[in-house]
Amino acid sequence: MKVNGVSLRPLRPLPDGRGIEVIDQRRLPFELQMRPLRSARDVFVAIREMWVRGAPLIGAVAAYGLAMQARKDASDVALRNTAGFLKGSRPTAVNLAWAVDRLLAHVLVLPESARADAAWAGAEAIAEEDVRVNEAIGRHGLLLLQAIAARKPGPVNLLTHCNAGWLATVDWGTATSPIYQAHAAGIAVHVWVDETRPRNQGASLTAWELGQAGVPHTVIADNAGGHLMQHGRVDLCIVGCDRVAANGDACNKIGTYLKALAAHDNGVPFLVAMPTSTLDLALADGVHGIPIEERSGRELTHVSGRTSAGEVVEVQLTPDGSTAANPAFDVTPARLITGLITEHGVVAAEAAALHQLMEGRR
Ligand code: MRU
Repeated sequence: MKVNGVSLRPLRPLPDGRGIEVIDQRRLPFELQMRPLRSARDVFVAIREMWVRGAPLIGAVAAYGLAMQARKDASDVALRNTAGFLKGSRPTAVNLAWAVDRLLAHVLVLPESARADAAWAGAEAIAEEDVRVNEAIGRHGLLLLQAIAARKPGPVNLLTHCNAGWLATVDWGTATSPIYQAHAAGIAVHVWVDETRPRNQGASLTAWELGQAGVPHTVIADNAGGHLMQHGRVDLCIVGCDRVAANGDACNKIGTYLKALAAHDNGVPFLVAMPTSTLDLALADGVHGIPIEERSGRELTHVSGRTSAGEVVEVQLTPDGSTAANPAFDVTPARLITGLITEHGVVAAEAAALHQLMEGRR
């Protein structure tokens, strides 16, 4: 996608082929800063501290982390240890393990001398595949938006939560890909952007992305969605996901579940954009099986923003001494999900459909 008219991705290989550059997403929307990552340790820190975030992006960045290790020591022991280390950086998004395990399997069968170049090419392939997958999700999602546009006057009003945009992927985004494609096709769209407390990925990242693309949008407090749905001001919810279990339960940023409940109560379609790399068929039940990351309470008790003098500062919100709990994700039960928009088309959030989808790909 473009920033100030120039194509940009949140991840790009450095010219020497030994590292990558990533957008430091902690600094957006006020500053666009690329930072180099040159070792698996750098990658671990960037994922854990959320310079990079979003399920598909952390998978691709972690793959490059393993490839960086292969340049230094490509022995079985070193690669296996690094893979385990990288997978431990964040627990919820399954794309991380998907990408690292895929790359590890790809290189371990090769002679040690061939592994470094193969790992680098494998990481590139994972990143490029993500772009194609998200573009395809956009094409399938576009049909849903076209259908809504055809039956009502005025813009199609969407609601999204967190950032499942191009910043969370290698390009296009998942939930935002249909929106960008509809906008490009001349369909009038308007996006309600949940601010997404506590880290505010909606307010700081999704709003910035949509603004760069010229897509009309309005930032709302997380608590406003139910009211808007009740009054007919949301035609469709589209969110991303970090892990979908075999029964169709979908884990995404904390607060997604409440949006799905409100959508269900008000007859608003609730779609989850799901690259198949986010599907975890090994997990039967999402609500009870998906590991939920607990992050520091400081993300709740403090907030950062720009002062009128232009300085980005952090301030405290809560009384001294109050403790804060910060579960970073929740799981929306499959019964509340209208459909999963995958790269292969829209699929029901239920076990038989998901098994059939993956069987068909084997
Ligand atoms: O904690 P984050 O910012 O990594 O959470 C991101 C989300 O929950 C996204 O919706 C999800 O990863 C899908 S990104 C295409």
